[in-house]
Amino acid sequence: MSEISAASGLHKATVSDLSFHYGAFRALKGISMVLHEKMVTALIGPSGCGKSTFLRCFNRMHDLYPGNRYEGDITMYPDNVNILAPSVDPIEVRMRISMVFQKPNPFPKSIYENVAYGLRVRGEKRRAVLDEKVEDALRGAALWEEVKDRLNDLAFNLSGGQQQRMCIARALATDPEILLFDEPTSALDPIATASIEELITDLKKKVTILIVTHNMQQAARVSDYTAYMYLGELIEFDVTDTIFIKPKNKQTEDYITGRFG
Ligand SMILES: Nc1ncnc2c1ncn2[C@@H]1O[C@H](COP(=O)(O)OP(=O)(O)OP(=O)(O)O)[C@@H](O)[C@H]1O
Ligand SMILES: [Mg+2]
Repeated sequence: MSEISAASGLHKATVSDLSFHYGAFRALKGISMVLHEKMVTALIGPSGCGKSTFLRCFNRMHDLYPGNRYEGDITMYPDNVNILAPSVDPIEVRMRISMVFQKPNPFPKSIYENVAYGLRVRGEKRRAVLDEKVEDALRGAALWEEVKDRLNDLAFNLSGGQQQRMCIARALATDPEILLFDEPTSALDPIATASIEELITDLKKKVTILIVTHNMQQAARVSDYTAYMYLGELIEFDVTDTIFIKPKNKQTEDYITGRFG
């Protein structure tokens, strides 16, 4: 099992001894690792190993279903708050930690209203503030130039790659500190994939990123740190180059080199 910290640098969050239960099923088993601030951390591992389950702990998505249970802590810095604590409001957590899903999931609203959504949930009503934040978020997601003249169009009219960038803009609009991506390019073609990868590299100047990917090349290209999971456990966590060039664990090596299973 890997040590908590792979290298020095500021920590945005630490995960300590995190277990997660879907009813009686323990899907995560005592995971400890860190998220380095303004770095990209990739989660890899075979289907069903718990990557999405792990990601969803970070924005308290599991709270939406009865019978789910967390154990352990995810402490966020600099305020040192355990975001899994029942006293912490999940809505507030989701403002600070936003998620982008595998398939673009636009709401049946205009492009503008999709991006403004989180701000409206927060109670923002001032048109000038909304306009500015929507533009900033769309620029941040490298979509502004393509949509600035059609902000009132339905979001469904965008291409798949544009929809995914719009979802990234929606996630960015509330100025989150951590962005979660669950296989964000698996529904996209190579060109749209490349633009999302470029965007991720650009976004880490501002936010800390945790990304699940099935694509080894993608993990190697975009991430600074990589965590390899298997059957709910964290097998190895280290700087990405080490994981891909010289993993310490035989299981990690077998997975990376495609000899798994
Ligand atoms: N809502 C649920 N109720 C019960 N078990 C679940 C639920 N969601 C996931 N699981 C189980 O938890 C385990 C981890 O699932 P998870 O979706 O986190 O895997 P994953 O690593 O993201 O897989 P994939 O690469 O296929 O997306 C699996 O055994 C899965 O069947
Ligand atoms: Mg998954």
